[in-house]
Amino acid sequence: MSADDKYPAESGRRRFVKGVVGSATLAGIGTGSAVAVNTATSASGAGGGITQYFAIENTDGPAPRGMPQVPVEKNSDGELAGIWPDTVKDGVAVMELGGSTYSSAAFQYCGVQTYPGVDPGADQNNVFKAAASPPYDWQEDELEPGDPITADLFEDFEEWNGGIGKAGLGKPAMANWRSEDVEPASTIPVQVLRSPRIIEMREDPPEGIDGDWLRASTTEDGFMAWVDKCTHFCCVPAFKAYEGSAKFGGEDAVYCQCHQSVYDPHSIVRKSFVALPRPES
Ligand code: FES
Repeated sequence: MSADDKYPAESGRRRFVKGVVGSATLAGIGTGSAVAVNTATSASGAGGGITQYFAIENTDGPAPRGMPQVPVEKNSDGELAGIWPDTVKDGVAVMELGGSTYSSAAFQYCGVQTYPGVDPGADQNNVFKAAASPPYDWQEDELEPGDPITADLFEDFEEWNGGIGKAGLGKPAMANWRSEDVEPASTIPVQVLRSPRIIEMREDPPEGIDGDWLRASTTEDGFMAWVDKCTHFCCVPAFKAYEGSAKFGGEDAVYCQCHQSVYDPHSIVRKSFVALPRPES
């Protein structure tokens, strides 16, 4: 168990693996603590409860867990898009991907559970769109807010470092996902990264990394993405964006300026947490 794991094995919560445990299922399990958790978190609303997901690992700072990965695909126009699960179950979108359950409940935290884009039935396009005011000069120069993020923008991904830390770890962009015509306060923030490390890891997954999931959730040419909401107090961190990050060991990682949490996008780990329910619609 990692040091940042807030759920000790003896709590019983860990026995719920693979995706979202629906209220009907939980009600039938005689583990007091688990039933109590479910009752407290999904008495109303949709799709809350104990959820397992893949995260970019939280390696330092006060954040309790990693940020949820968004599986990526590329369309025929070279646009990068997040894979949205294709079936709806217990109020969330769910699918099997790379031998694991991928659930949209992973995104239901930090207020995102109230955003229109996490509704499984939202009429939204899954292409990542450029965010306004990115912390990267290259993106400011080459993209307008709302432009699709396309693969050809990342051809220098092996050399790019943005002037912070070392090169060779990939080139990032700041995007929004499933948030067309949504007010700015309710857009889903996502970071996209094209990384040479991801290409290597797909071929030869390091110990502890699920290779099947990795290959299903990233592209052959090294694109990956995650929902970019710090699991501490919900700020928006960034990969290799802030000079001050070096003081906290975050210059080659995803660093949150609010309270110095650090996340490693090249360490993809399985985590669990209690997803918050979406409001009743
Ligand atoms: S470290 Fe506190 S919000 Fe990110």
